[in-house]
Amino acid sequence: MSLGPVEIFEVGPRDGLQNEPSEISVAQKVALVDCLSRAGFSRIEMASFVSPKWVPQMAGSGDVLAQITRAPGVRYAALTPNMQGFQAALAAKADEVAVFASASEGFSKANVNASIDESLERFAPILEEARHIDLPVRGYVSCVIECPYDGAVAPDQVARIADKLFAMGCYEISLGDTIGAGTPDSIARMLLAVRNAVPVGRLAGHYHDTGGRAIANIDASLSLGVRVFDAAVGGLGGCPYAPGASGNVATETVARHLADLGYETGLDLDQINQAAQLARSLRSA
Ligand code: HMG
Ligand code: MG
Repeated sequence: MSLGPVEIFEVGPRDGLQNEPSEISVAQKVALVDCLSRAGFSRIEMASFVSPKWVPQMAGSGDVLAQITRAPGVRYAALTPNMQGFQAALAAKADEVAVFASASEGFSKANVNASIDESLERFAPILEEARHIDLPVRGYVSCVIECPYDGAVAPDQVARIADKLFAMGCYEISLGDTIGAGTPDSIARMLLAVRNAVPVGRLAGHYHDTGGRAIANIDASLSLGVRVFDAAVGGLGGCPYAPGASGNVATETVARHLADLGYETGLDLDQINQAAQLARSLRSA
């Protein structure tokens, strides 16, 4: 019996590759995105228009966007921390952008060199401009359970930031357990708070698997109504400014798990396994 649709939002070419120690060429990135484009995703995050001094791995994102073969029905997404990044994403014809805030001050400072409020001020003109041109903007909240600098994060604080991003016009709020500290209980407490501020249909779970509990955390989220999960093919990933953040939960693991439970993802598992193989070869390159 089908339990209905669940979407996996593929973030490997961005959240995954941004943390790889070895240099990955534009051609290799394009090959990975093209392989993923054939797997049935609706959205693939594959670019990041941040400072190349801060995240050198994402330099060349404009070239990657220019060189991929765009598949019909796929939206290609890019991370944008400020107007400079937003303009670059527009020039590269990203189909949607994402702004990223933190629920903790320590991570906000380490990741974007700004307080939480300052980062939200930087996002305001992005959302304003995007509204005029009808470009979808996704919002991330990082460190929704624990911050590598400030420790435990209160669920109400996560709800407060999610509410702000949603009120500013983000169409979906992705909740990042950036260092994979969550357990099914702490994820549930966080979601119960956030659900009071943002409709659950506009939430996504973005779980790193550092603690080996990402699948259990997805299960807890499913039972509270979340139907979108971010994942990175091959389990690539981490965040350069979050010590201890290992890979995102692997797309192939989530896709298989959801299929076993009876959810429909619309994904081609053979194609995803092929992309996972490619991703792993980049990792060890
Ligand atoms: P700053 O140094 O405070 O910025 O960095 P600035 O405005 O003083 O600019 C410094 C230099 O950067 C200038 O160049 C700017 O032109 C340039 P210079 O004059 O020195 O040659 N610059 C840019 N270049 C290209 N694109 C831009 C841009 N903006 C400024 N958009 C800044 C502030 C936000 C730029 C910096 O901190 C930054 O880029 N941070 C990004 C960090 C990052 O990408 N982290 C990983 C993504 S977040 C994540 O992974 C978590 C997530 O997955 C969810 C989860 O897991 O929880 C989303
Ligand atoms: Mg992440």
